[in-house]
Amino acid sequence: MESYNSYFQIALKAALQGGELLKEGYEKKEHTIHTKEGCHNIVTEYDYLIEELIVNTIKQVYPNHNFLCEERGKMQGKSQEICWIIDPIDGTVNFAQKIPFFAVSIAAIHKGEVFLGITYQPITNELFWAIKGEGAYLNGKRIFVSNVKHLKDAVIGTGFPYNLKENPENCIDAFLSIAKKGLPVRRLGAATLDLAYVAAGKLDAFWETRLGPWDCAAALLFIQEAKGKVSHWNGDPFCLSEKNQILASNGSFHNDLVKLFQNI
Ligand code: IPD
Ligand code: CA
Ligand code: CA
Repeated sequence: MESYNSYFQIALKAALQGGELLKEGYEKKEHTIHTKEGCHNIVTEYDYLIEELIVNTIKQVYPNHNFLCEERGKMQGKSQEICWIIDPIDGTVNFAQKIPFFAVSIAAIHKGEVFLGITYQPITNELFWAIKGEGAYLNGKRIFVSNVKHLKDAVIGTGFPYNLKENPENCIDAFLSIAKKGLPVRRLGAATLDLAYVAAGKLDAFWETRLGPWDCAAALLFIQEAKGKVSHWNGDPFCLSEKNQILASNGSFHNDLVKLFQNI
């Protein structure tokens, strides 16, 4: 395996190029919109264009690697070593509605562990990245989770899956249990940025369910490197390979949230 930094350089190039295209798309009046399962789960021509650009940029240097992309799915490479996980636009509904909160997200995993992550929001120019063991950064500055000690003082983000009606998990109950405590809740609409905001201390915690690996792989590393905590709602270790529940926080009141979710 090469040094993490050589993978990082190519991922950075791909993320910045993807971000430029995303910005161009944001300025366009109209988009071609298709629906995936669930009527609000949409995909635009820019999701496909950006995904293609990112994959091609990485493939030029690493033609044998594996890819897991939101739109194209799995692409098996000759080498088993590394898998790139790509969400070309996280926050497509925001993008299509001209709400400037969306990002390109790229992560790379080796033996099941994320070793690099990049999330780029081209409109606000927020570039998050992390390399395993080397910290998490926002626009070149090291970031850490917030130092809020108690749940009562927390500002928390969340998101809801598109197929909420068919979803047996208690999203609304979880939301109510937090809202009833009078805590400020934010539903910003792009999970990778929500999680990156926990890493940067802009949010103190975040929860959602049924996220895909492309939604959270990069940000998982941001939070780990920013000294936060990520788990399943019940406190078990978070598993990237399944579409499962995620609870991220600065770590101080993580167990309080686990207890709260166990009682819903
Ligand atoms: C979605 C966003 C949204 C979250 C959904 C995701 P997409 O990703 O991250 O915030 O609530 O669960 O699917 O479809 O915009 O890439
Ligand atoms: Ca996504
Ligand atoms: Ca997406």
